[in-house]
Order: sequence, then structure tokens, then C-alpha cells
Amino acid sequence: MKGFEIFTAIEELDNESKYLIHKAKEAAHAAYAPYSKFHVGAALILEDGTVVTGSNQENASYPLCMCAERVALYTAASQHAGQRIMKMAIVAHKKNHKELSAAASCGACRQVMAEFEERQQKPIEIVMHHTDNQWIKCQSASSLLPYVFTKGSLED
Ligand code: THU
Repeated sequence: MKGFEIFTAIEELDNESKYLIHKAKEAAHAAYAPYSKFHVGAALILEDGTVVTGSNQENASYPLCMCAERVALYTAASQHAGQRIMKMAIVAHKKNHKELSAAASCGACRQVMAEFEERQQKPIEIVMHHTDNQWIKCQSASSLLPYVFTKGSLED
């Protein structure tokens, strides 16, 4: 598949990705996931090197649950306006599981990532844990969502 790389061990990744994975793992500790018991952490790096993290935050009214990726992305936009996002790493684990689970970003998060890329006119590299110690690196969030709905779709 174009734009994707699969790594079969974390050691094969570049140092920045490894650091972001470490920060995403830390962020997952702040997840509030009493319903799904699925703890997700996201860590992104801005062009000036600032790292912003997010974790999933659930609610008894299930549709109000918010994914880790969007918490991180909206925090970055709110607290570091104008700074472009270079890369984001995402990890997940089930409660009481030491092993990581697959952390495939949901469609809603992919849609939001795609809009960020359009806003900043620069691709965001995405690193996601797959399974069995495999990692997926994707050069651009928009390749995770082909034929995406965008601002342009709303124009006359
Ligand atoms: N979740 C995320 O944080 N990111 C995703 O992309 C997939 C799902 C969260 C939402 C919910 O709190 C839990 O995982 C189970 O869906």
C-alpha cells in the first residue's frame, strides 16, 4: 500500500517516533475509560518540538466519549495556534493488560486529522501500534481516509 510502512519491532522506528510512542503510553494512563476499559493515548509533536498528548475520555452518555487523538489535536490547536503538527503516535491497551492492543484510529479521528492537514497545508505522519509488536507508519493522515469529505466539498 502506498504511503505505509510496517515495522516488526519498535527498535526499527526512528527516535522521534519512539519518543512519541513513549509519551502516548504515558498519556494512556490518564484515560478515563470505565465503560470500554480500552485506554488510548496519543502524542503529537509540533514544528517547534513541543509535544502535546491526549487520552480518551468517556461518559455515561456513550456518544459523548471523546477519542485520544481528537483530545490531542484540539488541545494543540487551542494552546499552540499556528504551530503545524508534524507527527502523531497512537497506542492503546485494555485495562490490566500489559500488552498493547491495536490502535487503529476511528473514522471520525481520521476525518479530523485530514482537516488538520488541509488547514496546515502539510501532511501529518501517523504512527499506530498494529498487533504483535508491529507498528504502522503512514506518511499522511489523509491516506488513511481516501476520497475524504473536505471544506471543498461544501463549495458551490
Ligand atoms: N478510541 C480512541 O480514543 N481512539 C480511536 O481512534 C478509537 C477509539 C476510544 C474511544 C472509546 O473511549 C474507546 O476507545 C472504545 O471505543
